[in-house]
Amino acid sequence: MSERTFSILKPDAVRKGDAAAILAAIEKAGFKLVAIKKITISKQQAEGFYHVHAARPFFGSLCEFMSSGAIFPMVLEKDNAIADLRKLMGATNPANAEEGTIRKQFAASIEENAIHGSDAPETAAFEIGYFFAGYELA
Ligand code: CMP
Repeated sequence: MSERTFSILKPDAVRKGDAAAILAAIEKAGFKLVAIKKITISKQQAEGFYHVHAARPFFGSLCEFMSSGAIFPMVLEKDNAIADLRKLMGATNPANAEEGTIRKQFAASIEENAIHGSDAPETAAFEIGYFFAGYELA
């Protein structure tokens, strides 16, 4: 069944000039780009996005990093989009990511790991709504 997921090309990927290569891999894997924009967020906006991680020791550093440069939030669509994007991204820590995954190829560390992808339908709904208005998804 066609499904939507939410993704972010993170500041490390944008800084290194890897955005287009990562987008090409995503499109080649069959995802339709429903919406995409280039923005820079404040630390406070990053904290709101990652609120479920607020108690984690890496929360402050993660939010500093996510507000350190331009990002590309996007909405992607395909059958089984949520699980398939996570498979294509690879493990959170690139040291554990499989060959051929985006993080294996483009991520430097568990924090600077190139790309985010929603982990469940409820988080995808929250994350899409955090960055996009309804009219941008028509
Ligand atoms: P993401 O998929 O965006 O979701 C939460 C992010 O927190 C994750 O990718 C990593 O970038 C980051 N993260 C998760 N675990 C750690 C950790 N142990 N140390 C630093 N950052 C982490």
